[in-house]
This record gives sequence, structure tokens and C-alpha cells, in this order.
Amino acid sequence: MDEGTGVVIASNRGPVSFVKGPDGFSTTRGAGGLAGALDPVARQLGHDAVWISATTSDDDRDALHAGLCDGLERELGYAVYMLDIDKETYKKYYDTVSNRMLWFANHCLWDELGIDGFGEEEIAAWDAAYEQVNRRFAAAVSEVASPGGLVLFQDYHLYTAPGHLRSIRPDQVIFHFTHSSFCSVEGLDRLPKPLPKRVIEGMLGADLLGFHVAQWVHGFLDCAERIGARVDRARGRVDHGDRTTWVREYPIQVDAGFLRQRSRQVHATEWANRFLDRTRKGPLLVRADRSEPSKNIVRGFEAFGMLLDRRPDIAKDARFVACVYPSRQSMPEYQRYTRSIKEAVASVVARHPGSIELFMEDDFDRTLGALRVYDVLLVNPIMDGMNLVAKEGPIVNERDGLLVLSTGAGSFEEMGDASIQIEDPLDVTATAAALERALDMEADERSKRAEALRRSAQAREPAWWIDTQLADLEAIAAGDEPLTPPC
Ligand code: G6P
Repeated sequence: MDEGTGVVIASNRGPVSFVKGPDGFSTTRGAGGLAGALDPVARQLGHDAVWISATTSDDDRDALHAGLCDGLERELGYAVYMLDIDKETYKKYYDTVSNRMLWFANHCLWDELGIDGFGEEEIAAWDAAYEQVNRRFAAAVSEVASPGGLVLFQDYHLYTAPGHLRSIRPDQVIFHFTHSSFCSVEGLDRLPKPLPKRVIEGMLGADLLGFHVAQWVHGFLDCAERIGARVDRARGRVDHGDRTTWVREYPIQVDAGFLRQRSRQVHATEWANRFLDRTRKGPLLVRADRSEPSKNIVRGFEAFGMLLDRRPDIAKDARFVACVYPSRQSMPEYQRYTRSIKEAVASVVARHPGSIELFMEDDFDRTLGALRVYDVLLVNPIMDGMNLVAKEGPIVNERDGLLVLSTGAGSFEEMGDASIQIEDPLDVTATAAALERALDMEADERSKRAEALRRSAQAREPAWWIDTQLADLEAIAAGDEPLTPPC
């Protein structure tokens, strides 16, 4: 590492997590699209890439102490450095600040979750844990990054790391990508002062900021304006102090070839057949999500129940398969949400026995099996950075399945035209009506829409997402504007 590394990726969750079992440690891939999108890039760069991540569990910490991280380079083809973050600090940085404060701010979930303020504990966690971890990331990056190399920070866990790195390495080319939505002033301003300003200033330490879609770019620009930065919307440029930051959208893509191939293998096929068997007579609805308030899962079940209540003809044979896997269960908000999901399902099933099958463990092949055979896929988030399921579904589906999609999903920008739209995801009646429209649609129209959905879902190669970012960063390093036009 003496000469430094060409590309440094930094994210909370690395490409793999360790799991300790009776026969020792194994590795698993984390949830979300981040690892899937960046791993191929790191593999391609090989020894010229380093991925820095945090230890996210006791198993990660134990594996790191046992020296197992060193072996990852052989397995993955590039080096992974895990930062040893103690449990107490990690909890405050991850649960309290990243997930309770920043994630809820990014998705404007304050009213949804009845959160009306924060106190000393949260502000203390910001200073003692979030800032500390972000500084450690910046220091670790600065140790390995070559002066001319690129640094790619990922997501809301690392909002202030660009600013910290900038103060150590003023000339480094720094990028930050937010994988979630970015709600705007309305979301960020509910954080205690001075955190909204700290978040934006930390991000403005980067040369280039990326978001999935234009809506989140504009949310960020509103917040930058609010802290007094000079915002040039026509050029997607923010000037603050003596620095310039460019802001662009880079919608993440999915790997259609991989998904299709995996979904045709034996495990997914067994699940697909099993689901088909169950629904021989009627339509199959599917959803696949993390157990997450922003995904709006409870209202989806309420809408399905409402539809079955008033349409006995549909209620007779329709089935809903929901693959909802647990997430962030160390937080009371997520534990409560998981309970509400089970209650919502129980209430519908009490009225319509057998109508919903709820799976609450993560099983990629089961999800792929369900996606192959749905007639209607429900994706109704309140707000969601992208939502890859809305693209993955149409790619693997074999039954001219329709997509019912809310405007809150980032993927609405690419998938909205051919989907059946839910304007207001909080409106259960409108959601029930959208499901009904999908279930009643004629075969001709279904097949036209399914074809259009397939086309949109794979309009760009998966590598487009990162290649565009890298090309823009090269342009910035050369003193030019990014090649990608502003949105
Ligand atoms: C979202 C975030 C990712 C995160 C993933 C899973 O997609 O943008 O950064 O990794 O959710 O959440 P978790 O808290 O389990 O990492």
C-alpha cells in the first residue's frame, strides 16, 4: 500500500459480513443494492482497489481479531479493511444517529413514526459516536488513498467523512453517494441544531455528490440553500466557503443476466412451482422488502384486505405472498413495525383465511421464485432511494406480471410510465384501487405493459452506474465539469 490505492470505497457495511457457526466463520452478503453494485467494480480493479468498512456485529469483530479479514482478498480479489468499532460506539453511530436520526430524516418519517424531537442523548451520540466513526473512516481512507486516486464514500452513515477527509487531504478527489432518498428541508430540519448544517457541510467536503434520482438531488439542493450555500440549479453546482461541489443523479441498475440465470436454478424454481401450485385458480400478488417503515408494508396489507372485503370474486382465489425479512431489529421502531406487519396480516387472514403467506426470513431464492410467477407486484414505499425490486421483478417475471408502484419510489422515474401508479402511498383506498385495476386488467394490456416494464428495467447495463460516476470524477480531477448533465 506504499504508493497508495487507485480507488478507495468506504461504506458502513462491507461487501461481506461474517457469521460464526458451529464449524467456524462463513461470510454472507449484506442487504441492499450497495454491495451488489460496487463489488464488480472492486473486483475489476483488483489490487488497485481497497474497500473500507465497519465491523457491524460481534461476529465481524471476532473474525477481524482472528485475522480473517486478511483472507478476504483471496476470496474477493481486492482488499477489505474492517475498522474495529466497539459495540457501544457502533450502537450509537448506527442505531441512534444513522438509523433513528438520518434515515428517518432522509425518508421524512417523523410523523409516520410519531417522533417529535430529540434530546441530549442523540446530540451526545452524534459527537461521541457518529463523528468519531466518520473521522476514523476519513483517517483510514487517507492512509491508503493515493493522492491522485478516487475516494468513493457510500451512504448516510458516512455523511461527514468527506468533510473530515478534505481537511486532511485538501486535493483528494472525493465522491459521496446517498443510496437512500433525500427528503429535503422538511426532513432534515427536524433534527436538533446544529446537525442539519453539519450534515450538509460534511457532504460538501466532496467534489461530487450522487443520488439515485433527480427528486433527491433537488432535496439536497434545497437543504444546501438553507444553510447559506450558493446553489446554481441549472449547473447542479453548490459553492460553499472556497469550495465547489457538483451534484448529479446516477440511477442504480440491476444485473439482468445474473438475476435471470439465478432465478432459473433449482432452488428458485422449486419455490416458483410451489407458489404456482398454491394459486392455480387465482391471481398471485407478491411483495419483497426489508421489514422497514418507509416500505409502507402495513398499508399494503390493509389495502389488500380492503379489496378482498369488497370483491368476493377476487377474495375467493387471490393469494398474496410477502417476503419480508427482518432488518435493524435492535431498534424499538423496527421491532414495533415488524409486530404491526404481523398484526395487519393476521387481521386480513382472519377475514380471508389463507389469503396471505408471510415469510419473515431472508431467502433470496424464495424471493426470486415468487418474482418469477407474480401476476401483480406491489411496491408502495412512502419514500425509497430507488427500490430495486421494482426493476428485478419485471426482469425475472414470466407471467406478464404488472407492477403497482408508488410515486415515492426512486424507481418511479424509470418504471413509472408502464406501472399502475399510486399517487399517495399513505392512501389505503387508492392503493386498494390500484391493486384492483391491476387484477382486472385485460391480457393484451397486461402483456404490453409487462414488455415495457422489462425494457425499462434493463435499459442500461449495470456498469453504467459506476462508469458514469468514475468518468465524472476524472473530468473533475482534470478541472472540468462532470460529463453527466445536471438534472
Ligand atoms: C439501505 C441502505 C444501505 C443499507 C441497507 C440495509 O439500502 O441504503 O446502506 O446497507 O439499507 O440496511 P442495514 O441497516 O441492514 O445495513
